[in-house]
Amino acid sequence: MTRKILVTSALPYANSDLHLGHILEQTQTDIWVRFQQLRGHDCTYFCADDAHGTAIMLKAEEKGISAEEHIANIKRDHEQVSRDFHIKFTNFHTTHSEENRELSYLIYERLKTNGHIATRSITQAYDPEKELFLADRYIKGTCPKCKSEDQYGDNCEKCGATYSPMDLINPKSAISGATPIAKESEHFFFTLPAFSDFLKTWTRAGHLQDEVANKMAEWLDGGLQEWDISRDAPYFGFEIPNQSNKFFYVWLDAPIGYIASLKHYADARGEDWLDYWKPDSTTEVYHFIGKDIVNFHALFWPAMLHSAKLRTPTKICVHGFVTVNGTKMSKSRGTFINGKTYLEYLNPEYLRYYFAAKLTSNVDDIDLNLEDFIQRVNSDLVGKVVNIASRTAKFIQNAGGVLSTEIANADLWKQAVDAGETIAAHYEARDFSKAMRDIMALADAANEYIAAEEPWKLAKQAGAEAKTQAVCTMGINVFRALLTYLKPVLPAMTAEAEKFLGETLDWAAPIQFRSGDKINEFKPLMTRVEKEKVDAMVEASKEVIANLKPKTGDSPKATPVNEPIAPEIEFDDFAKVDLRIALIANAEHVEGSDKLLRLTLDLGGETRNVFSGIKSAYDPKDLIGKLTIVVANLKPRKMKFGMSEGMVLAAGPGDKEIYLLEPHAGAKPGQRVM
Ligand code: 2FM
Ligand code: ZN
Repeated sequence: MTRKILVTSALPYANSDLHLGHILEQTQTDIWVRFQQLRGHDCTYFCADDAHGTAIMLKAEEKGISAEEHIANIKRDHEQVSRDFHIKFTNFHTTHSEENRELSYLIYERLKTNGHIATRSITQAYDPEKELFLADRYIKGTCPKCKSEDQYGDNCEKCGATYSPMDLINPKSAISGATPIAKESEHFFFTLPAFSDFLKTWTRAGHLQDEVANKMAEWLDGGLQEWDISRDAPYFGFEIPNQSNKFFYVWLDAPIGYIASLKHYADARGEDWLDYWKPDSTTEVYHFIGKDIVNFHALFWPAMLHSAKLRTPTKICVHGFVTVNGTKMSKSRGTFINGKTYLEYLNPEYLRYYFAAKLTSNVDDIDLNLEDFIQRVNSDLVGKVVNIASRTAKFIQNAGGVLSTEIANADLWKQAVDAGETIAAHYEARDFSKAMRDIMALADAANEYIAAEEPWKLAKQAGAEAKTQAVCTMGINVFRALLTYLKPVLPAMTAEAEKFLGETLDWAAPIQFRSGDKINEFKPLMTRVEKEKVDAMVEASKEVIANLKPKTGDSPKATPVNEPIAPEIEFDDFAKVDLRIALIANAEHVEGSDKLLRLTLDLGGETRNVFSGIKSAYDPKDLIGKLTIVVANLKPRKMKFGMSEGMVLAAGPGDKEIYLLEPHAGAKPGQRVM
């Protein structure tokens, strides 16, 4: 029976790049969706950018653009990176959309009508300069307990104390530096405790993994609190109907964004989103999320939907965090890896396979061990799977590209077909690691068979043509089965293999043995992972700040007397500085100047002429071909020797000891720094 399945992954915030944590989640979801589609089900995958909130408003301000422009830029970027990782959304929308506004209002009105919205005044920290209520993370001060300075408003990183922001000694707004004042305002609350009994049943009704249900039970037993769903202006979001200067908290309209993405897609097709979300809908709904946002999806979201008389999810599928080499991703170690950086160096399908080989149905963290990654991908995909085709295809070509009509090893073929249902069950249960294990066991069996039959020797024996063809046909058929089972994980490689095989691999029914017809010429399907590329990716992921160090071998003397620090500037002023990677295309002396060099900088398609006072420290010919960092938006200045269109960054006491900044390895001209 064809199932109708709607799948989502968590909506990425529109304030930063997608990193490997996002990629893990989207890969897990995409594999599951592609698997369901391959099995013949009507499975759709919806996602969107999570575009509201203070952080996004401030980020846009920092960049000097409107919030709308900022989220549009990020959306383009997110979509591109996902696409490059072969994530195939049915629709990728944004929570800042008319569909989401309409649905948020609809759900909010229903909650209100049902008596599930309470109103009361609360007192919060307020930045009188910026005229903004401050969330705890925007307040910094001295810990009231251990007296450590520069601690956030809710807890101390040094001693672990938790407190309210107004308890901080000398609290300051992290945005303006002003001292926050306490200010009252009216807020709207969703009466979550009213759903305690409903949730106690719902969280134990098979919608959650056991460990997640147990965690929810702890929270439910501890008693639920009403949930503050409003924020005061200024805020980037949806205004609450019939209120002035009150907005929905980003987390209210974020999950509604799942439905809005569906609505956007359904409207365009004349379909009705409600077919999926009415209480008696027969569609299955699966949300894939990380373990940090379980409370929103397993408590708040089902309670809201229940109040609004809409269906609740079939399953919330929770995964763990990505760690790299056994520890939390770290910017200084270069293991906080952005999707974009990964893609500059490595094939996305390496990572899709590696994640698949590690993913289980539980919430354990997934470790990307870089040594193991190289070894595993090379051994499994290149060494085992692709090898089967590359070792047999040429002998089929010798037979005019035609497959034998004989099944040379019926046991091996039965093993290949029978494995299909077990592998499918593992996919269904999101136990991808078990699916990959079984697929590789089948690949091992095929390789053993080929090694034992030695078609390369058979091919040289007179009269063994038919046997060679039959053995290799067997190899090609197991390869077909393997690629069918791997198709959800490796869509691009499978597409190439399909060209070679001249067929579309399908898994809606057990795989049939292919015989007697023609296949095409084999072309290499995947190259090995190169360690140098992995190392370069890690280097490129190291924060540029870690490169503000002198050239190796030089030890700068400290400047004896430090100049007084210049008057404070606003963060906004600093954020206006646009630092770019520049290639020094040419460097030369400037006639008549004993300080300046003339640099020709390539900013990735744009050339600049810059005069720099580094003549005492550098021989111009040593600079040509090097990368450095330039302030790219400095107003051109007319100097005695011509226009200077920017400024390169250098540090040091002077004379021979001036060090031009070097960016991270792998930096490309024109890339923005920070
Ligand atoms: O944690 C996050 O990144 C959120 N932007 C996820 C939102 S998921 C959904 F509820 F919208
Ligand atoms: Zn402390």
